Amino acid sequence: MDPLHNPFAPGAGSPPPELAGRGPLLEQATLTLARVKAGRPARSMLLIGLRGVGKTVLLNRIRELAEANGFHTVSVEAHENKTLPALLLPPLRQLLFALDRMANVSEKAKRGLRVLKSFLNGVKLSIGDIEVGIDVDPEIGTADSGDLEADLAALFLAIGDAAADRKVPVAILIDELQYLTEDELSALIMAMHQVAQRRLPIVLVGAGLPQLVGLAGRAKSYAERLFEFPEVGALAAADAHAALQEPAREQGVRFTPQALDEIMAQTQGYAYFLQEWGYQAWNLAPVSPIDVEAARRATTESIRRLDQNFFRVRFDRLTPREKDYLRALAALGNTAQRSGDIADHLRVKVQSVAPLRGALIRKGMIYSPAHGDTAFTVPLFADFMKRVMPDERRA
Ligand SMILES: Nc1ncnc2c1ncn2[C@@H]1O[C@H](COP(=O)(O)OP(=O)(O)O)[C@@H](O)[C@H]1O
Ligand SMILES: [Mg+2]
Repeated sequence: MDPLHNPFAPGAGSPPPELAGRGPLLEQATLTLARVKAGRPARSMLLIGLRGVGKTVLLNRIRELAEANGFHTVSVEAHENKTLPALLLPPLRQLLFALDRMANVSEKAKRGLRVLKSFLNGVKLSIGDIEVGIDVDPEIGTADSGDLEADLAALFLAIGDAAADRKVPVAILIDELQYLTEDELSALIMAMHQVAQRRLPIVLVGAGLPQLVGLAGRAKSYAERLFEFPEVGALAAADAHAALQEPAREQGVRFTPQALDEIMAQTQGYAYFLQEWGYQAWNLAPVSPIDVEAARRATTESIRRLDQNFFRVRFDRLTPREKDYLRALAALGNTAQRSGDIADHLRVKVQSVAPLRGALIRKGMIYSPAHGDTAFTVPLFADFMKRVMPDERRA
């Protein structure tokens, strides 16, 4: 069919033509936002899920919901090599300027800016220069101790006061939260804890890989009570079918039931893969309906494309030893494996590969679904490892 009209959107963060199966989660987010706006206690949300399930797309949707409900939003993505202050300061500065520029003088908004300035001075001491121009005098003694935990809380409280004064609720959206250091995550949780205790109108909506749950719990044991951790998973068959059929139907195109079965079997309902298969099947089918023949050709083409980019970019960031470790994990199967079994498979002691496993968790390649277990964070990565490394090298 004409690629010009292809509705499917494979790509990190690309809005899907049909946001399938996320109704309950969006309702939960809507309620949370409404409660924050009304000054009622509400737990911030951290969306948890594997790569490619649709977390970023959901975060963006929640940002739109928040903005439609009068929130000011701050949206950032954490990186392995960018600090939390460097990430947050520019948009928080913008937020405070916006609050300050609203009609009527707000002493609270002005104070927010002074506190931001002193926070900047504090972090400069501890992590070097960050370029954020703010032409105000700092509020010396507030948020400038250089201790991130104390300073970020003081900053969030000042921002919360300004937001409450302006009657403008604030949503802070942070993607890839698993990349924060433990100290940064601690500071963020502590800041949200203080904001919640004072019922200030700030809500945090985050997203991250499954390891985030453990990281948050280790950073602050009360994180479990402060946040909801909604799980974002693969789509159930009915939702996966809708993700494919609805965008096609809008253009008078349909999939045969056998084509849907083939795509479901191959993608296991993972959102990214559904978009990829839908995209290829559309282009490969000569006419509607998209049949099982087109779906099978889409399988070949989709795997080829994923191997070249979605999987490949992750593989290329691995050291040779990390590759061997993941290859051993893949050899044992598609599900979570005991770390001891992986070590046995590599013919090494489990302690000797513990640092390797830790590095792979920090890189976001694997996680521990239960103590002593190891699983890939990228769906279908085991099959990719076997394709890209047909022969195992064993230690
Ligand atoms: N609910 C959904 N229904 C259909 N496609 C979706 C859905 N959520 C995400 N997608 C698609 O999946 C892909 C990955 O989404 P993304 O939000 O980047 O995942 P993540 O952030 O979890 O890695 C994108 O191509 C997006 O269009
Ligand atoms: Mg994402």
